Amino acid sequence: MYDDINLDNIDLTADPPKDEPARQHYFMAKARRSVRSLSETAGRPLTFHVETFGCQMNARDSEKLTGILAAAGYVPSDTEDADLVVYNTCTVRENANRKVYGRLGRLKRLKADNPYMRIALCGCMTQESQVVDRLREDYRFVDLVFGTHNIFQLAELICRMLETDAMVVEVWEGTDQVVEDLPARRKYPFKSGVNIMFGCNNFCSYCIVPYVRGRERSRSPQAIIDEIKSLVADGVVEVMLLGQNVNSYGKTLKQPISFAQLLSQICQIPGLERVRFMTSHPKDLSDELIQVMADSDKICRHLHLPVQSGSTRILEKMNRRYTKESYLALAEKIKKAMPDLALTTDIIVGFPGETEEDLAHTLDVVQQVRYSSAFTFQYSKRSGTPAAAMEDQVPAEVVQERFDRLLDTVQTIAREECARWEGTTGSVLVEQINHQDPSLLTGRLGNNLLVHFPGDPRLIGKIVDVRLDACKGFYYMGEMI
Ligand code: SAH
Ligand code: SF4
Ligand code: F3S
Repeated sequence: MYDDINLDNIDLTADPPKDEPARQHYFMAKARRSVRSLSETAGRPLTFHVETFGCQMNARDSEKLTGILAAAGYVPSDTEDADLVVYNTCTVRENANRKVYGRLGRLKRLKADNPYMRIALCGCMTQESQVVDRLREDYRFVDLVFGTHNIFQLAELICRMLETDAMVVEVWEGTDQVVEDLPARRKYPFKSGVNIMFGCNNFCSYCIVPYVRGRERSRSPQAIIDEIKSLVADGVVEVMLLGQNVNSYGKTLKQPISFAQLLSQICQIPGLERVRFMTSHPKDLSDELIQVMADSDKICRHLHLPVQSGSTRILEKMNRRYTKESYLALAEKIKKAMPDLALTTDIIVGFPGETEEDLAHTLDVVQQVRYSSAFTFQYSKRSGTPAAAMEDQVPAEVVQERFDRLLDTVQTIAREECARWEGTTGSVLVEQINHQDPSLLTGRLGNNLLVHFPGDPRLIGKIVDVRLDACKGFYYMGEMI
């Protein structure tokens, strides 16, 4: 394990090892020496700041970047006024992309005032060649650009960056490697994301993720279980298993194993109290998984099951490989097995060719399934995806009007679903002191609802029983019992 390695014992007069992760351990030690010497010249520690723009997988990647930078001797900073700023980008929708370019302008001004400052860009945007071209042309003050497959190499890339004034670019198009035993620094001491697989093979026609994250690769069950055991030993009580489609976990391993089997093994880890996972693709959700969930008191009563559209015609054009009817039947089966489970979803409005009738099907699914919450998105054209070339793109004002109607329905139902729990008692993982009222704590129920209640901050990271007294729309006020 990474924790057993002493970087100061690595011989830097030798050539760097060829094999991973030994090679990266060598470069962490080398980067540490450079950072130390720069700090001496500057007369202060060198700081770093990692900013996450994307999803939970992106956030977990940021924790790995943070782990490597801390190993290299940089000191964390809460603000962008740092000596190394890393933007971990997202490109799933155009506005995620636009935001990054806007923020880079601000970084340029900060850099003008700090001779030590370096700027790095990584994540899904950098996998797009037109983005790298634009950075090379218009954003030459960026020092380092690396792709989603190159995160494990950060220490090596930092060493290269510190040796040159030119922009260092390292973006692999794909990989079949999963490098283990690198450091990570968690945002929360008591909960953690855990990657179980990388990439996606589904090619939903609107989605850029398979192009920027590469083909599906599963980690070995042993590596996952070892990581969770060491997280538990370090104080973690809840893990979120991460993958673009966790239901196809393990299919490509030499010794195939199903996601449900992996879950059962994880639930046996002593000291681990809660297990969550995302995302589940409806086409691959098995009866075996429903059974394992229903039989377990560690797996949270929450399932994120993106529907994207309620219209079979649109689902087909989206290449989702299920129908309105099969989705409804699946949701019904899950609710029957676990009546206290909260279903949440993602919905896209304004996919090319979407009509009023298609939207009516989507609203119907929302009403029948009764989601506890739903992320609603306006369709965003991503160049290179099949949907971007489809005719009948829906005009922006039509999309906006449909979006408003959908949001209204989603919120009405979410409020009603939230109110269902008034007066009941649930176990809550205490996450933080309430932002508005420091006499209150904020915690999360297994079904993902938030509850605020009076309590001692020393309870943060513990699981306690809370009575849900008053529903306030999408959250509760409660009392510990
Ligand atoms: N792997 C996950 C989703 C990852 S992206 C899954 O299959 O559910 C998260 C969400 O972003 C998707 O569920 C989808 O609703 C939305 N999304 C993806 N591409 C989009 C696009 N081009 N325009 C609008 N929303 C999009
Ligand atoms: Fe995108 Fe579909 Fe893969 Fe999810 S399953 S990441 S929506 S292509
Ligand atoms: Fe996630 Fe955005 Fe990439 S949603 S996988 S960070 S494109």
